[in-house]
Order: sequence, then structure tokens, then C-alpha cells
Amino acid sequence: MTFGGRCVKLGGVDADAIAGDLAAVLYTPEQIQERVVALAEQIDADYADKKPLLVGVLNGAVMIMADLCRELTIDCEMDWMAVSSYGSGTKSSGVVRFLKDLSVDIHDRHVLVVEDIIDTGLTLSWLLSNLSSRQPASLEVAAMFRKPEAIKADIECRYIGYDIPNEFVVGYGLDYDGRYRGLKGLAVIKPEVYS
Ligand code: IMP
Repeated sequence: MTFGGRCVKLGGVDADAIAGDLAAVLYTPEQIQERVVALAEQIDADYADKKPLLVGVLNGAVMIMADLCRELTIDCEMDWMAVSSYGSGTKSSGVVRFLKDLSVDIHDRHVLVVEDIIDTGLTLSWLLSNLSSRQPASLEVAAMFRKPEAIKADIECRYIGYDIPNEFVVGYGLDYDGRYRGLKGLAVIKPEVYS
């Protein structure tokens, strides 16, 4: 796909076919992978001998979880949760309901929540308070993207891939209306696509 005179390989889907829906490419697949490797190094160092449980939040965290856990060299396990946040098409409300709970008991476990993106942080804030009530040995967050200007909840996120502008983005697991998740890069979608 050529974008702004630059050839950008977004991969995953036929990026040319959706080029008209995208306003800008924020990160190429290579830039994302670079950060994943750096995050994995940090996590390897922090969790040596701790055998953490990585908790992915479906569906968006599928890509970061798959890439991150394959970069880690420490012994770790993986589990998944699915939540639904009530809100309009592109905004979350913080009113959350479980669609799928964890399969394992996290009492006394070192839990690392793996998220695709922190936007308002309302969903994650609810999730963290739910998980901390189960008394894990530790509870931290790794998020691939964060929108600092959109945050409404006070969340400590230990591992961040990239801070991004307050715009609706797709790719690397993030969708609009179920589409674009397979893009390997991260792109801003044109407002007219969702308005
Ligand atoms: P939050 O509660 O506002 O932090 O966002 C909750 C969820 O909304 C995230 O985990 C994403 O799945 C989704 N989300 C937030 N911002 C975006 C975006 O820009 N693109 C696609 N999905 C998003």
C-alpha cells in the first residue's frame, strides 16, 4: 500500500483494498515488533523465576499476546477473559460485563494482564479491581497502545508499547465493527467510516 508517497506494508488483509478507509499509518509492522521485543526483555527481567500468568483480554489482545509470549524466554502460562463494555460504536462506558471468566484460580499467582489498548481505561480499571479481589501475588498491566489524552481512570500500567494520539485506530488486533483486526500495522481510520 502506498501512503503519503511511502510504501507501507500493513499485511494481514489486502491493505490496498481498505486504503481508502485509512487516514494515516501510525506504526508499521516492524515498529510494532521492535517494541514487542523490548517489552519482552523487560518482562523477562522482571519476572525471572516467577512463572507469571499472562491474562489476555479478548478479542483485541490476541495479536499482542501471541507475539509477546513467543518473545518471552521465562516460563509462563496464559489464560483469557472476555468482557463486554457497554457504549456506542467507538466509545466505552466503563459499564462492564463478563462474557468469559478465567479458567484458573489466580490466588497467589503473579498476574500480568495483556491488553491491546488503553483508551479511557474504564474497562481495565473495572477488570483490575475484579482481579485484585481474587488476591493475586502481584497484578500488573502490559498494553500495546495507550491514548494518554483519553484516559479517565487512574491506572498504573507497567509496560506500554506506544502512546498514541486520541484517535480511533485499527489493526494489530483492534477492530471497527469486527473489521481490520488482521492488519499487521496500526492505522487511524477515517471518521467517515464510523460516523
Ligand atoms: P477503554 O475502556 O476506553 O479503555 O477501551 C476498552 C476497549 O475498547 C479496548 O480494550 C479496545 O478493545 C477498544 N478500543 C478502545 N479504543 C479503540 C480504538 O481506537 N480502536 C479499536 N478499539 C478500541
